[in-house]
This record gives sequence, structure tokens and C-alpha cells, in this order.
Amino acid sequence: ELIGKSKVIDEIRKTISKIARTDTTLLITGETGTGKELITKIIHQESTRSKRPPVVVSCGAIPHNLLESELFGHEKGSFTGAYKQHKGKFEIAQGGIIFLDEIGDLPLHLQVKILRAIEQKEIDRIGGKTPIHIDVRIIAASNKNLEDEIKQGNFRKDLFYRLSVTTIYIPPLRERPEDIEVLSKYFLGQTNRSYQRKFIGFTKTAMEAMMHHPWPGNVRELIHRIERAVIMGTGQQLNENDLGLVLIKAEEPTTLKELKENLEKESTTQALMRNYWNITHTSKELGITPKTLRALIKRYSITKTY
Ligand SMILES: Nc1ncnc2c1ncn2[C@@H]1O[C@H](COP(=O)(O)OP(=O)(O)O)[C@@H](O)[C@H]1O
Ligand SMILES: [Mg+2]
Repeated sequence: ELIGKSKVIDEIRKTISKIARTDTTLLITGETGTGKELITKIIHQESTRSKRPPVVVSCGAIPHNLLESELFGHEKGSFTGAYKQHKGKFEIAQGGIIFLDEIGDLPLHLQVKILRAIEQKEIDRIGGKTPIHIDVRIIAASNKNLEDEIKQGNFRKDLFYRLSVTTIYIPPLRERPEDIEVLSKYFLGQTNRSYQRKFIGFTKTAMEAMMHHPWPGNVRELIHRIERAVIMGTGQQLNENDLGLVLIKAEEPTTLKELKENLEKESTTQALMRNYWNITHTSKELGITPKTLRALIKRYSITKTY
């Protein structure tokens, strides 16, 4: 279920019900933890293809040299180590839905093959002699801005247009504060149940701290903070400490040094989350060396929240 009372979430619900029972290709964009996979699951349930489980491919998590075989399969003997025939995810998804997560991480030569899979409804196993017809609905997701990736030459324009026949953009949680309250209450209820606790809500300061927090990990981070709070909390209501948050008021006098450190910690944390804690990618994005990045992680005791 998609929780939220913001206008955007309302619009997204409407879009979902319009497209769920069609076979249109869909592109979902939004930062990590905003609900891209959840939306895919909802569409899958409401679709005409719900009998088969959705097949998920995390394009960013699979090494490039294995990705082609993972997606399209290979024939026995088609390369060193191909001891037997292997079915790719497209074939496994036959008659159902394939969810291509982090499609922005797909290397260009495979983008061409995805385009062909969409346009001709055909794929080739590596080393295969005849193309295989596929009947698969494609839902793709990206936490990168694909238009920027196109400008940098990392993503094909034609594939982008083909994928974005319909699009859903989920804004980051910090841009829809109206959702923070309903989401936090919803997840408090759920977490109370699973830990058999009875917290009745959040203190006023805790709610205010949640409103001011930038939520680099979005709803996923919210869920984890609430879980932690339910485990650690002692009062009737959860406070900002239980949530691991501090309320920083803009009016409070702060030294430049503190401001700089806060910014440094926050930017580093956000970049790490965006890059799934990949040190090479994160340091590149921040324009620092991996060694400096490691030093920052240590200095600010930045930890993975999920
Ligand atoms: N609007 C929402 N309502 C309810 N749960 C949500 C919402 N958005 C995200 N979630 C939950 O947050 C977690 C992260 O969402 P997920 O779909 O995995 O994000 P993404 O794929 O964008 O990284 C999941 O447990 C998901 O169910
Ligand atoms: Mg995801």
C-alpha cells in the first residue's frame, strides 16, 4: 500500500490505477528509498500479469561482465566457463513483468540490446543462433537523473524515450513533509505490532526533528529509524534521541566550524547512500580520494543505516 497524503502521492496513485492493467513500458525515477520497488509491486499485483512473480534485476549490483548473460542468457560453450545453457531473466520473466532496477548503471552496449527487446520483442542468448520471442512487460527504475546521464554520454537517448512512454517521479521525502507524519505513524503502528510494544506516538520535538531532517535514505531510512526507536525507546512517546535525530534550529547561533562540519558530514552521508556505500563511486562524486572519504567516514562516525 502506498502511504501518503501529499498531492504527488495522490497523483501517483491515480497514474498507477490508469496504467496497471495496460502493458505500457514504465520508467520510475526517484532517490533511493522513495518507493520505486514498492510501486512496481503494486502495479504487478494490479496487472494482468500477476500470476507470475515479478523478475527483479539490479543492474547496478551485477558485475558488467556477467550482466549480459544474466539478462539474456547464454548457450553452452559460448564463452570460457559457459559449461551449460543458461536462461536469462527476460526468458524467466516470460509472460510476466521484469523490473530493471538502476537502469542508469547499464553499460551502453546492453542498452542497445534492451532497446531491441522492447522494440522487436526479441532477445538473443549469448552464442545463440536464433532470436527468442519474448512477451514481457518492462518496468525500469533509476535513482540517477537519466537526462543528465544522456548529456554525459552514459545513457542512450532512444532508450530513454522508449522507456519513458509513461513515467512516475517520486520526489524525495524532504520535499513532501506532509507525508512524514502519516508515514511515521503508519510505520510506528506496524513496528509496535512486530515488537509487541505500545508507543502512542512521537513527542512534539521528535516530530519537528523529523520535519527538519533531510532524509537522504528517504522512506527506507524512516522505517529504520522508527524500528531503532521502538527497540531503544523507554517513554510512552518516542523522542528525537530514540530516532537518532537532533533538532537543529536555524536561529541557534552556530560557529562557522560547526556549520562546515555539519555540511561535510551530511553531504558525505548522502553521497554514500546514493552510491550504496560504494567507496570508489562516492569519492568520485564528491571529488575526493577514497582515502579522504574513509577518513571522513571515520571522523564523523558515519554508519550504514540500512
Ligand atoms: N509511500 C510509501 N508508503 C509505504 N511504504 C513506502 C512508501 N515509500 C516507500 N515505502 C517503503 O520504503 C522502503 C523502501 O522502498 P523501495 O520501494 O525499496 O525504494 P526504492 O526502490 O526507491 O529504493 C520499502 O520498505 C517500501 O515498502
Ligand atoms: Mg530499490
